[in-house]
Parts: sequence; C-alpha cells; structure tokens
Amino acid sequence: MKHFETELIRYKENNLFVENVSIEKLAEEFGTPLYVYSKNHFINQYKRFENAFKEIEFQIFYAMKANYNLSVINTFIKLGSGVDANSEGELWRALKTGIDPSNIILTSVGKTRHEIKLGIEKNILMIKAESEEEVMLINKIAEECNRTANVAIRVNPDVDAKTHPYISTGLSGNKFGIDTKTALSIYKRRSEFRNIRFTGIDMHIGSQITDIDPFIEAVEKLSELYFDLKNQGLQFDHFDVGGGIGVAYNEDSVFSIEEFAEKTIPIFKELQCKILFEPGRFLTANGGVLITEVLYNKKNGDKNFIIVDAAMNDLLRPTIYEAYHHIQPVKKHNRIDLIADIVGPVCESGDYFAKNREISATKSGELLAIMSAGAYGMVMSSNYNARRRPAEILVNGNKYDLIRSRETFDHLIWDEKII
Ligand code: LLP
Repeated sequence: MKHFETELIRYKENNLFVENVSIEKLAEEFGTPLYVYSKNHFINQYKRFENAFKEIEFQIFYAMKANYNLSVINTFIKLGSGVDANSEGELWRALKTGIDPSNIILTSVGKTRHEIKLGIEKNILMIKAESEEEVMLINKIAEECNRTANVAIRVNPDVDAKTHPYISTGLSGNKFGIDTKTALSIYKRRSEFRNIRFTGIDMHIGSQITDIDPFIEAVEKLSELYFDLKNQGLQFDHFDVGGGIGVAYNEDSVFSIEEFAEKTIPIFKELQCKILFEPGRFLTANGGVLITEVLYNKKNGDKNFIIVDAAMNDLLRPTIYEAYHHIQPVKKHNRIDLIADIVGPVCESGDYFAKNREISATKSGELLAIMSAGAYGMVMSSNYNARRRPAEILVNGNKYDLIRSRETFDHLIWDEKII
C-alpha cells in the first residue's frame, strides 16, 4: 500500500509522527478516536499563502467553519488573520479568542435578525448580503440601531467550480449569492439604503476546487462587475475572493497557491483595493489526522471488513461526499495488502471511511491514521448513536496540548429531563 506523508506528519523509523510527537504515544495517553493537529502545518500554510500574495495589499480571513477549535482559531489570529464566521455560534467563538471585531466577516445565506444585529453592534468588518431582502433587512436593523452597516454583496458569478455538487456554490442553480444583474441593480440603488455603506464585493464559488480555470473565470467576471460599478462612482474598500482552494487528499493534482497568485495578481493590481481571501481547507486539512483503533477484522463472503472505533459521527466526509481520505497504519508493517472496506460501529451502511481500499492487513488493537482530517472533520461531528465526540490534540514541535477533551456521557445529557 501507499503511504501518505507531509512535511510534518510522517513516519520516523516506521512510526507515524505529528511533528516530533509519536501518534502511538498520544493514543496511549488520550485514547481513540482522537484528532491530532500539527500547529506548524497551520502556520506554514498561512505563511505560504501570505508569501504568494506579498506583492499586493490583502488580508486572510480564516474560514473558521473548517476547524473552529479555539486554539486553532487563535493560531491564525496570532499570525494576523481575520476570520470568516458563518453563524452566531462562530462569531461567539471568534470573539472568545479576543479577536478585534474589525477582523470579522459575517457570512451565511440565511442570517437571522439577531445575527445581523449582533454583527452591526459588534462593528465587524462587514456583513455579506446574500439576497435583496437581506439587504433591506440589514438596512432596517442598522436604522433601528442608529448605525451604518458595512455590507458587501456576495455575487453568484454563475461559474461551475467543477467540485462535488454539495460543495459547489457559484452556479446560478445554487442557493448562494445574488446574480450579477440583481447585484448591479442593488449597488446602483445604494442611496435607497441609507444605513448601509457598501464596502466591497464578494464571491465564493465552492470548496475543494482543484481546477484553476473556473476560479480565474470567476475572479475575472467579478472584476468586470467591480469596474462597472467603479465607473458609476462606487468606491470599494475590498474585493473578496472567498475560499475554496483545494488540497491533495491523495495523488490529486491541485493547482498551487503560487500558480493561483501568479494568475490573479495582475487582475488584483488593477482593482486598486484590498483583496480578501477566506481559505479554510487550504490552511488546515493536511494538518490533521484522526486516529482510530482496529476493533475487528472480518470477511463477509469475499469481502473484507476492517471495523474501527471511529465512525461517521466523528468524520462525516466519506459518507456525504464520498470523499477520499488516505488511511494507513500508525506502525508500518510488512503484512500483505488486501482490499477492504474500513467501517465504523454505527448502525448505518453509510458508516464507512473507505470502500474497496488497498491496505495492509490489520490486527485487532492496531492503530490506523485517517489522514487529511484537519478541515471539516471535528466541526461536522455529531453524537449519533450517543457517541461522544473525540478529543483534540494540538502538537507544536516536541510539545502537545489537549485542546478539547473527549466528551463525557454527562455532556450528552446535560440539558435533558426525564419527565
Ligand atoms: N468562504 C465561504 C463563504 C464559505 O462558504 C466557505 C466554505 C469558505 C470560505 C471556505 O472554503 P474552503 O477554503 O475551506 O474550501 N464540508 C465540506 C466543505 C464545505 C465548505 C463550505 N464553505 C467538506 O467537507 O468538503
């Protein structure tokens, strides 16, 4: 079988390490299933992003939905990042880290009145508007608060990001954003919205984008609209490209951030305003692993199953997007490879991490690492089957910290009553 390694998550003498810490040791101390993150992977990815765009004025707003453990958010904030928050809960989490609210963007296709009010009261950088009705509501709430709300319209550029349909957001058939014509008309009628200052223009066409062309096409389309509006006297502070840059989960070919920068910087330079980015996966995905223990090996007819102690409730991506996550032993060995389904204990046939996967034969009690689990892993976990969410560990060189402990059974019933 193949082994997937990164600069900071790799084998040392046949044992998988996150930075300088052995995964086996962490599993012994904290049990499994266990999320382990490499802090320096997060930092390196952030710096790589920064470096690629150093020629222009820009700011990164970490899309915290990818991994919103407070320590993870804090790692990025300390590097100068803002955050893109998608709900009151995310806003609240971000504020808990002590972030300056002027470094927060509030997204979401369906913000409640309360969320909008909160965004205005906290004086965040901007609220993204995703419908004309929302623009009207933001204006009304801002008027009631006697404030001016900073708003950017999320434009749906009608470009196919060529990613999984569930994570494609930039087509006119998707629920996201406002089509170009309507956006143009709202911006033109800006004087009607007396309590709104339109500070920018925004897009986000999808996630795990591996083909650079649709991305460039969307940037070009949005910049055309930008110039159109500029010619009509609108002065924007920022142009927000959203997130979506894909990462390699396997041997996928993905454009590099440097290539993306090379192709977009000439466009950005012409805009003469600050460029905002909202990466989530790019910063975190390959900095995380989910560690699980093999419970059983079995054969049903000709089919091999490896049953592990993690389940779909811990990492949902394979189940809902048929997403590939590489799976490999924490301790390398020379047993023969077999083709197996790697499945969890939950009572659903959809509870799997891999189907018909080549993997070297496992033994009960051994550890497996489910790779690239640093984005959209823990944040999408649930308590289905009354399973407790895993613990999370952040490794930094030789050091490691428990940044969230495993849930207890009391956590699961803390607000329930028996009547
Ligand atoms: N900005 C906005 C407005 C977004 O909706 C998203 C992700 C991002 C930025 C960050 O995108 P990224 O750079 O991480 O691709 N659960 C799915 C991914 C859903 C992404 C939703 N929006 C998955 O596990 O693949």
